[in-house]
Amino acid sequence: MDLAVVGAGHVGAVCAACLAAIGHRVRVLDVNEERIALLSSGSAPFFEPGIEELVERGRERGLLSFHVDPNEALPGATLIFLCVNTDNSPDGSVNLSAVESAVRAVARSAGPGSVLVNRSTAPVGTAEYVRSLLEELREGAVHVAVNPEFLAEGTAVHDFLEPDRILVGAWDREPIALLAEAYEPIVRRQLPSDLRALLANGHRRSGDVPFVITDPASAELAKYASNSLLAVKISFINEIAGIAEELGADITKVARAVGLDARIGPHFLRAGIGWGGSCFPKDIVALQGIAATRGLSARILRAANEVNTEKRMWTIRHLQSHFKTLFGRRVGLLGLSFKPHTDDLRNAPALEIAAQLAQANVQVRAIDPAVSAVPPGFEDKIRLLEDPAALAEGADALVLVTEWPEFAKLDLPRLRALMRTPLLLDGRNFFDPDEVRAAGLTYIGVGRIQDATEGDLIGTADPASAAEASLVASS
Ligand code: UDX
Repeated sequence: MDLAVVGAGHVGAVCAACLAAIGHRVRVLDVNEERIALLSSGSAPFFEPGIEELVERGRERGLLSFHVDPNEALPGATLIFLCVNTDNSPDGSVNLSAVESAVRAVARSAGPGSVLVNRSTAPVGTAEYVRSLLEELREGAVHVAVNPEFLAEGTAVHDFLEPDRILVGAWDREPIALLAEAYEPIVRRQLPSDLRALLANGHRRSGDVPFVITDPASAELAKYASNSLLAVKISFINEIAGIAEELGADITKVARAVGLDARIGPHFLRAGIGWGGSCFPKDIVALQGIAATRGLSARILRAANEVNTEKRMWTIRHLQSHFKTLFGRRVGLLGLSFKPHTDDLRNAPALEIAAQLAQANVQVRAIDPAVSAVPPGFEDKIRLLEDPAALAEGADALVLVTEWPEFAKLDLPRLRALMRTPLLLDGRNFFDPDEVRAAGLTYIGVGRIQDATEGDLIGTADPASAAEASLVASS
């Protein structure tokens, strides 16, 4: 099929590259000339495993092209996917100006019979607004549909090609039929064999991908509800982690026991220093704003946000109680990005932690496998290093902020020997506490038993836990 994608950001570029990978001809439009030039040369303007390879393949096969001129990108496209940014305004409301200008471009340049498909996360009622704007701007009908994306950074290519579901909101049949045709190889799990290697790390599933059809408003709300529920789930386990920390329980064991209940599920129950990134913080606030316009208070969303804000204090709180005074201390952050496999620093907990520590006159240093520069405004707060040994040199504490797999290979005894004080705060419960302690470091995890003797007993020698582990393994 002939398709167009408006917006070459994370969502748009992944969508376009994946649609080309399953055989469609895709033209991508963006107002940002630099971004279009980069993509045209085969590079991605962001870090995402697999994306450059797919862009390169799409270009080589003549299936993928990048444009700044709507008249090159839009005419002839059957489906036009809108993947533009919908950031929150300072008052928390969603700024739809990028959606509006994209719709204007579509109204001017799209061919007759095109379907405009909104994939940008946008408030309930946006499809309705887009439809009325199109009706106002042009004579020939353009159908409108909603097709929310559920991509997580770092696994976006896999999430697009092997999704849990495809959600389509529409008023009439035509857009639904066209979207079903476009997504057919994904729905039927009949991906070209050359994509297999790229998806090698994903878990294979069988049966068709559920293709869920709703009205546009339900699809729009489902996207906000999904992100908000995931954020609520994390905040919930983080709240329990706070309780565990006080009561001498281990949240990793609690979460495993809770998550084995099929009604609850094991995902998004990893306690830590809280969620960040470009979506959860924005969407949970936006949904509260949407509820507020109807006089609803969305108390659970507000509470989830509050728990998350509170968790950002975990690091400084523990450092303060360990050292009493922080003035002049040196702290090394392991990881800056908001999660592994991305260089994204938007709402990254590391930045907030660094700002709090800098405020307390702590020297903050950091390493991160994907981040090559600290963001504007943080130059005097974080010194970015490359080598873990340099990070440990003279440090009073190391703080694991991002659970990059690389950090599992750190030589902890060597790092400990370089440190001034042997303290490791594990903000993602990434390390095995016994290994850290065996390296001579004091270990503090989120919602984990802090006392070494008690932790050792419960972690290793408890016959009940060994029996339970073998039961779980055999189930
Ligand atoms: C999220 C959604 O997963 C995705 O479906 C949506 O389209 C966009 O928002 P993303 O922001 O890329 O994706 O990251 P995700 O993997 O969901 O993690 C979000 C944050 O939650 C990260 O800061 C992560 O560290 C944190 N997290 C995640 C936890 O603290 N605990 C968990 O158990 C899971």
